[in-house]
Amino acid sequence: MASAPLRFGLVGTGYWASITHAPALAAAPDIELAAVWGRSAEAAAALAADFGARPFSGAEELDAFLDGVDGVAFAVPPDVQAPIAVAAARAGKHLMLEKPLATSVAGADEVASAVAESGVASAVFFTLMFRAEIRAWLAEVTARGGWLTGLTTWFGSSLGGSSPFNTPWRREKGALWDIAPHAVSLLWAALGPVTGVTADAGPADVSHLILHHEGGASSTVTVSQHGGEGATGFETYLWGPSGRSAVPAGNTDALAPLGTALAELTANIRGGLSAHPCDASFGRDVGHVISEAQRQIDERAG
Ligand SMILES: NC(=O)c1ccc[n+]([C@@H]2O[C@H](COP(=O)([O-])OP(=O)(O)OC[C@H]3O[C@@H](n4cnc5c(N)ncnc54)[C@H](OP(=O)(O)O)[C@@H]3O)[C@@H](O)[C@H]2O)c1
Repeated sequence: MASAPLRFGLVGTGYWASITHAPALAAAPDIELAAVWGRSAEAAAALAADFGARPFSGAEELDAFLDGVDGVAFAVPPDVQAPIAVAAARAGKHLMLEKPLATSVAGADEVASAVAESGVASAVFFTLMFRAEIRAWLAEVTARGGWLTGLTTWFGSSLGGSSPFNTPWRREKGALWDIAPHAVSLLWAALGPVTGVTADAGPADVSHLILHHEGGASSTVTVSQHGGEGATGFETYLWGPSGRSAVPAGNTDALAPLGTALAELTANIRGGLSAHPCDASFGRDVGHVISEAQRQIDERAG
């Protein structure tokens, strides 16, 4: 007899929760979107009603929200996500997390430790890592090997006035925390674990990272969320003795990759497994690279 779908709760009621997490959870074959939690009762009620879920709001309803679910998906700012994720993991709930895990070493470490100690399954939505065409590219370039460097530039437009992504935490933390985690996750998978970072920043939310990878390759990442509508774009390529290989870019759909992440998370839950290439410990490791970059940028700025 088929088992009942896993019950998931969604933390967050904003734009990203409404257009991506809620529909992806509702469409996932082995998931029931059972509950929505937000700080605003009205917003939680509205989003929950759209998906036939139960609304919860405020700190006082967080325990009741967690009690009724097997897993929790997050679409809130990183430093709101981290403490709720720790509480959820300690309560035995599986986690569909957003990048970055947190914007501090301590915050990321606490999430990864709570996940490891409780043995729950986790996945962090490094979107590029769940795109079918990028996975095919990664399989090809890692099989070929021999790469000496990788270059990523990513100019977003979230900090333009009218973008729905022009949110307070992004204005404070910028592309270094919003976009660079995606780039670091991809270069990590392509060239090997990152063992060191050198970072500096310029005007207009520009951050530059030089990454060193286990095995000797190096790579660079340049990001900004002030790209402007006409100049946005994401490019990555690897270079080595066999030439160049560019990442297939241009696909911005997030629903299919989140569907893949949820399918892999639920498969792990069903199988009693916790390790995933993009699990909370990988999210913590990427977060450490970004934290060190931030430390150097702050130090240079005096
Ligand atoms: N993987 C990807 O490709 C991708 C793309 C976009 C976003 N994201 C991630 O998704 C997360 C949210 O993104 P966003 O900033 O764009 O979100 P958003 O859609 O603006 O939503 C933020 C949500 O967090 C709530 N919130 C804000 N401060 C809060 C607090 N102190 N306590 C409780 N709730 C709070 C907001 O509530 P109110 O509505 O009451 O303000 C809203 O529900 C971030 O981690 C971001 O990195 C990932």
